[in-house]
Amino acid sequence: MTELRIAFTLNGEPCEAQTAAHRTLLEVLRARGAVDVKEGCGEGVCGTCTVLLDGEPVSSCLVLAARAQGRDLMTVRGLGDAGAPHPLQSAFVAHGAAQCGFCTPGMLLTAYALLRDRPRASRAEIRRAIAGNLCRCTGYTKIIDAIAACAEGAARG
Ligand code: FES
Ligand code: FES
Repeated sequence: MTELRIAFTLNGEPCEAQTAAHRTLLEVLRARGAVDVKEGCGEGVCGTCTVLLDGEPVSSCLVLAARAQGRDLMTVRGLGDAGAPHPLQSAFVAHGAAQCGFCTPGMLLTAYALLRDRPRASRAEIRRAIAGNLCRCTGYTKIIDAIAACAEGAARG
């Protein structure tokens, strides 16, 4: 079995990992303790495993770990934490947009990438952006409300 050594940046920190060539980014990230990246379907349908690869949302269960070589990865831990939450994280709490929380890391990263590129995104754009992130709990309205509150905050300046 071919083994690879890969080096990448994870939430701003330089990282290395040894992995079999067929392992996915999701497997490698979780094996090295990044359990904030959630595994749902494992086949590219649910979006719970979303991470940002060079700033773009990808389903890490569909990406070979080797593709991370030399690249920049961000998981939800890179966004903020309980002590210093990102405005999106605060908005999710304020709007009750996280219930079981399983979809939340992927939702937040997808929303972050959207608002970075479209700070005043409309509700229709938000809906389109999160179409690949499934949530079994919230019915989506509260999630859209939370993201829209951040977009409206940007619009107000
Ligand atoms: S676990 Fe990757 S898309 Fe579902
Ligand atoms: S909050 Fe439970 S799956 Fe979204």
